[in-house]
Amino acid sequence: MENNKRPDSMERITTRALADAFIAEQVEALRKQIGNKKVLLALSGGVDSSVVAALLIKAVGKQLVCVHVNHGLLRKGEPEQVIRVFRDEMDANLVYVDAVDRFLDKLAGVSDPEEKRKIIGAEFVRVFEEEARKQDGIEFLAQGTIYPDILESDGVKAHHNVGGLPEDLRFELVEPVKFLYKDEVREVGRALGLPDNMVYRQPFPGPGLGVRCTGAITRDRLEAVRESDAILREEFEKNGLAGKVWQYFTTVPDYRSTGIRDGKRSWDWPVIIRAVNSVDATAATIEEIPYALLHHITDRILSEVPGVNRVLYDLSPKPIATIEWE
Ligand code: XMP
Repeated sequence: MENNKRPDSMERITTRALADAFIAEQVEALRKQIGNKKVLLALSGGVDSSVVAALLIKAVGKQLVCVHVNHGLLRKGEPEQVIRVFRDEMDANLVYVDAVDRFLDKLAGVSDPEEKRKIIGAEFVRVFEEEARKQDGIEFLAQGTIYPDILESDGVKAHHNVGGLPEDLRFELVEPVKFLYKDEVREVGRALGLPDNMVYRQPFPGPGLGVRCTGAITRDRLEAVRESDAILREEFEKNGLAGKVWQYFTTVPDYRSTGIRDGKRSWDWPVIIRAVNSVDATAATIEEIPYALLHHITDRILSEVPGVNRVLYDLSPKPIATIEWE
């Protein structure tokens, strides 16, 4: 499609000055497109939607309505950060939707990974639709589409965008970063003053921790994933690995093993650590983590995360394994 091709004349945004120029140009274009109408945006807190939110806040302020859906599968501290950055610091019009019970109830007993993805995607659209109907006078829908999404529309990101809004809610699209590559989106995000841990965030799947709590999701295992992931991220940040390792996380499978705690036999979950390097997620190699750090992280997880009695390190490259366990 003609208007989905990045203009040949467009310079790569590699510096702060180029990012500032892009922002100035987009702010003007957005004001012209939107006028005094209202725009809706699903704000996950990921890099792309956060940059779009920040651009639109700069362009049209409170005419932007951001909807942040907490589906219970976000990492520790993420919903709080979205509220702090966008509502408290940027004074955005932010609707926070606590849909945790709703998602977890729908997912109860569902063990097939693709079925889980479908439920999460479909429920997300439903929650977003309900919020859209509560708003008056919305004429535009903003999206964090970036250029690789257009180029690889059958790629990683597209396959889990389940369905869309119904006919009567098909707003005109606003996609201010659709010609940008990821590194350019980050440059623009920095220039807009977004925090580094948002701008340089590692890839995080749409279904979130749901695919890292394998099989049928239970609240106890989900908390074990969230808490162990928080420890892993904290230790990687403290030890200078956060910017070097492409993606790192923990998974809690749905089988237990025996252990001993306080002289008594335990029957608890294992935590699996995964830390991979990759360029575009189609292949991945294993990062060599210092052994002492792995020991330290293991000790912390075993002493701080309830219901866990073993920590494993996954050495499998992609292929043969995939990055996620599901
Ligand atoms: P796999 O596990 O297929 O993952 O090697 C490749 C990359 O894609 C991410 N991933 C997803 N991202 N929705 C997403 O938005 C998904 O359903 C999904 N599944 C995997 C994964 O984290 C890795 O970066």
